[in-house]
Amino acid sequence: MTQTYRAIVHNEFGAAAVLRETERTLTEPGPGEVRVRVVVSGVNPTDWKSRTGATATSDIPADGAVPNQDGAGVVDAVGPGVTGLAAGDRVWLLLSAYQRPGSGTAQEYTVVPAERAARLPDGVGFEAGACLGVPALTAHRALTVHDGAPRRLAPGALKGLNVLVAGGAGAVGNAAIQLATWAGASVVATVSSPEKAALARAAGAGRVVNYKDADAATQIRDALPGGADVVVEVAAAHNAELDLARLRNGGTIAIYANDSGGGPLILDVRRNMVLNSRWQFILLYTVSPEALADGIAAVNAALADGGLRFGADAGVPLHRFPLSDTAAAHAAVESGAVGKVLIDVSPSAGS
Ligand SMILES: NC(=O)c1ccc[n+]([C@@H]2O[C@H](COP(=O)([O-])OP(=O)(O)OC[C@H]3O[C@@H](n4cnc5c(N)ncnc54)[C@H](OP(=O)(O)O)[C@@H]3O)[C@@H](O)[C@H]2O)c1
Repeated sequence: MTQTYRAIVHNEFGAAAVLRETERTLTEPGPGEVRVRVVVSGVNPTDWKSRTGATATSDIPADGAVPNQDGAGVVDAVGPGVTGLAAGDRVWLLLSAYQRPGSGTAQEYTVVPAERAARLPDGVGFEAGACLGVPALTAHRALTVHDGAPRRLAPGALKGLNVLVAGGAGAVGNAAIQLATWAGASVVATVSSPEKAALARAAGAGRVVNYKDADAATQIRDALPGGADVVVEVAAAHNAELDLARLRNGGTIAIYANDSGGGPLILDVRRNMVLNSRWQFILLYTVSPEALADGIAAVNAALADGGLRFGADAGVPLHRFPLSDTAAAHAAVESGAVGKVLIDVSPSAGS
């Protein structure tokens, strides 16, 4: 008998209202693929940007595109040739919909290449699993691209380094603070309000500066007397001056977004040469498979160690939506929800 399941799809690019619920037919995983019963789906800015078509990596297939890259659930079936994962394994998902528009996590079952399903450590819930993919792996990459960087973060791997995290209350910013702290770095974060400062502190930032203060540059200078070895940057063009003013000789600015209005990033060549600075751009979708594998391993080690946590007391408030309200979940992220927006896809499957 054909088995059907609930999925959220869109058949055109556009506002959150293009998302609608439908029924799909269960398909078998092909060679190298696993089928996962999704318990929780995580929403990131990339998901609504793809939905609008602005950054979509594929055309919409005839039966619709399913949104959301991140999620967590239980392996339900494995295809030929898959080793290391079996039915019943608890996993977190990464890049589920990248160049696979039917494989997003806003559906009860998804089929993904096995390397996009990572084992969830014992004791770590599906809720945390759905917070990981985009934010934690982007943060891991940003913390491992500097001169002499370890390939894989571990306790002590960033000992002695000063890390400046711009936007410390953001999802990636929070993961960067937690991972850098776990790896032994001293962390200073910037935010735009006292509420966000409290979140950045809860994540582990030793000092927090409101980047909107008139004397923000001075405060950052005071917080980082020796300068920053690594800047994890969410608003490259907007913050370029601030970053360069506090970069240590040989330091790296790891850029993963151009928020705060975007615009071109104009660099003074001589000034950067004198500093031996490194401006490293990051796009998770096109990071090498080796770097992704290192990120997965480090993120799992941090999770198992309690070095990466989720919820308000870790600086990441969680906002839950039922699958039928996926459009509202997308709208929440699009309007700047603070923390992580999660969708309960098949809650009973996770119990
Ligand atoms: N390149 C990649 O692979 C990659 C991966 C993940 C995410 N991203 C992108 O990165 C951005 C952030 O993602 P997210 O999930 O972390 O979003 P988020 O949770 O909404 O966080 C963004 C944070 O940036 C802060 N911010 C904005 N302008 C700032 C500025 N000038 N200085 C300091 N902080 C600033 C925001 O707070 P305030 O506005 O209050 O300051 C907010 O806390 C999005 O554009 C996303 O698409 C890219």
